[in-house]
Amino acid sequence: MKGPLELCLQEYVPVINEFLRGLQFTDTLGGRLAAPLAEAMHYSVDAGGKRLRPVLTIMAYRLLAEDWQRALPVAAAYELVHTYSLIHDDLPAMDDDDLRRGRPTNHKVYGEAMAVLAGDALLTEAFRLLAEDVEAGATTRIKLISGLARAAGRDGMVGGQAIDILSQGKNLHAMSAQQGELLEVLHRRKTGAMISGALLAGVDLAGGNASLRERLAEFGSVIGLAFQVADDILDEVGDEALLGKEIGSDRDLGKLTFVSLFGLEKARQKLVELHRQALGLLEPLEEKGEPLKALADYIVERDR
Ligand code: IPE
Ligand code: IPE
Ligand code: MG
Ligand code: MG
Ligand code: MG
Repeated sequence: MKGPLELCLQEYVPVINEFLRGLQFTDTLGGRLAAPLAEAMHYSVDAGGKRLRPVLTIMAYRLLAEDWQRALPVAAAYELVHTYSLIHDDLPAMDDDDLRRGRPTNHKVYGEAMAVLAGDALLTEAFRLLAEDVEAGATTRIKLISGLARAAGRDGMVGGQAIDILSQGKNLHAMSAQQGELLEVLHRRKTGAMISGALLAGVDLAGGNASLRERLAEFGSVIGLAFQVADDILDEVGDEALLGKEIGSDRDLGKLTFVSLFGLEKARQKLVELHRQALGLLEPLEEKGEPLKALADYIVERDR
């Protein structure tokens, strides 16, 4: 029998993929010469991926409303920003990776300049979607734009990526309380902020109240941290074929990760602790929280 997560994924992911494939990135004025930009954008967006962030937006929206297809442009905006972050994360100036979503990385196919620009264009396109394509009043659209800017920017994903790069190779790996704290800030920003933001966007579009917003922000922050702890573990012991990206890259680059600072065993314990916290936060939602609960289970058990 299929569980609540499989049922949600089966229902949402094909529709999310179709929506993303349908986005027109073509440059009508640049003509054939500009075609590689649109191609590079679609190359990474259409490569797939788990679509975790858009699924979270839809799940959060569905806590309050049934017409979940209305959340698609918002869900897609989070996926576009996430995809841009992966294209830039893989660049030689950052993690210098060759494989992503089971394919050669964007810059390996289109060159560094086009990969930078494809990322820039996906980021910008996400804000265009929120401003122009969401069926909601101006106040809600501004709230969504502000939410994505905060999740993606200086205090969110980009800020976290900066700490990630600045701490790289610095031999910060001897355990100390201060480094443990820095590591949590790094993970909560680079990964947690976009996961939390995707959930809150669903609540905001559906007009959820402040108390639900606060609860889901906390839940998102906990599962976001858990998601990155799992990513750190998988970089050490995962299966490249399942992950669709190279493993061992954190160790090679001297990254500050849960595994480098605490070791595999403690990293796994941290996951169990975060999972417990996440489930506690869902308790007041009762049955409505089942899909989110299944998603939290998946995040700690995942192998890809
Ligand atoms: C990878 O994200 C980068 C992190 C934030 C850990 P995902 O593991 O969600 O990648 P895709 O979207 O499935 O490719
Ligand atoms: C990247 O973290 C998080 C992003 C904001 C893209 P990682 O560098 O660990 O992600 P992977 O392992 O390359 O997917
Ligand atoms: Mg990185
Ligand atoms: Mg990386
Ligand atoms: Mg990683």
